[in-house]
Amino acid sequence: MNAAVRAVVRTAMGHGIEVRGVRRGYKGLIDGDVIDLDSRSVSNTIQRGGTILMSSRCPEMFERQGRRRAAETLRQAGVDGLVTIGGNGSIRGALALWKEEKVRVVHVPSTVDNDLPGTDVTIGFDTAVNTAIEAIDKLRDTAASHGRVFLVEVMGRENGHIAVDAALASGAEAVFIPEAKCELKSLMKRIRGWWAEGKRSLIIVVAEGDEEGGVFEIANQLKTLPGIDIRTCVLGHIQRGGSPSAQDRVLASSYGFAAVEALHSGKAGVMVSIRNGRLGTVPLSVGLRKPRPSNRGRFTLVSRLA
Ligand code: F6P
Repeated sequence: MNAAVRAVVRTAMGHGIEVRGVRRGYKGLIDGDVIDLDSRSVSNTIQRGGTILMSSRCPEMFERQGRRRAAETLRQAGVDGLVTIGGNGSIRGALALWKEEKVRVVHVPSTVDNDLPGTDVTIGFDTAVNTAIEAIDKLRDTAASHGRVFLVEVMGRENGHIAVDAALASGAEAVFIPEAKCELKSLMKRIRGWWAEGKRSLIIVVAEGDEEGGVFEIANQLKTLPGIDIRTCVLGHIQRGGSPSAQDRVLASSYGFAAVEALHSGKAGVMVSIRNGRLGTVPLSVGLRKPRPSNRGRFTLVSRLA
C-alpha cells in the first residue's frame, strides 16, 4: 500500500495538486485525522510493508451518519478528489460516499485475497504468496527429514487464490479451497497409495475458508490413516506483512498513478484495474459483485503434478 500512497502523492504533486493523507482509513476520515503529505513524506516507504497511513476496520461507515461525517471532513479539508485503497469493505464505503455525498472518489484495489471482481490482480497478493511459499519451503525440510504430513493454512476466507498459487509454486501435494468441494476421501486413498510406494512426507495447503474447516479439522480426519505423522501450521497475518515483492511494488505504483490520472481527467466513481494486461478503470459497483474465484486450471494442476 505504501507504494500506492507514494505514487498518488507524487503523481498529484506533478500536476501541482496539494495532497492530504487520511490516517486509519475511514475511521480517520470520520474523526478528521487528516495530515499534509508531500514528496518527502513518502520517501523511503516503497520497500515497507503495511501502510504509513495506518488502517482500521470501521463499523461506523455502515451508518449514514458516519458517512456524512466522513464527507464533512473532506469538505472541511478542501478535498475535491479522494483515492481509497483496500478490499471490498473499502469499496463499499467509497461507493456510498460517491453516491450519497457526491465525493469524487477513485478506488485502488488492494487485498491479499486477490478476489475482487473487475480486476485480475490486487495489491498484496503476490507478496502474500511469496511469504507463504517461503514458509512452506521451510516446513518441507521437516516434512522430508522427519517423514511427516504438514497441513498449512493460508488466508482466503471466500476464495483460494493464495492457497492455489502457493500450493502450485511450492510443489504441495494437495490444496483445499472454498470454491471446490473438498475430496478428502479420494485424498486419503491417494495417501495410502503413496505410502505403499514408500513416500513419507506431504504438504497440504488449506485456505482458511474451506468448507471442511481449518487445518485442525482436516488433521483430525486424516489421523484415521494408520502410520502417518501429522503437523499443522497456520500462517495467519504473517502473510499480510513484510517488504513487498517487486511485482506488488510495480502494481501499486501503476495503480496509484492511474488513480490520480483518472481523477485529474475528470473521472470518479471508478476503481482502477488491470484486465488482460491493460491498466484502466471499471465502475465502483463492479468491484462489489460476486468475488472472483481462483484459477481452476492451476487448482487442478496441483494434484496432477503431485
Ligand atoms: O480480507 C483479507 C483478509 O486478509 C482475509 O483473508 C483474512 O481472513 C482477513 O483479512 C483477516 O482479517 P483481520 O485482519 O481483521 O483479522
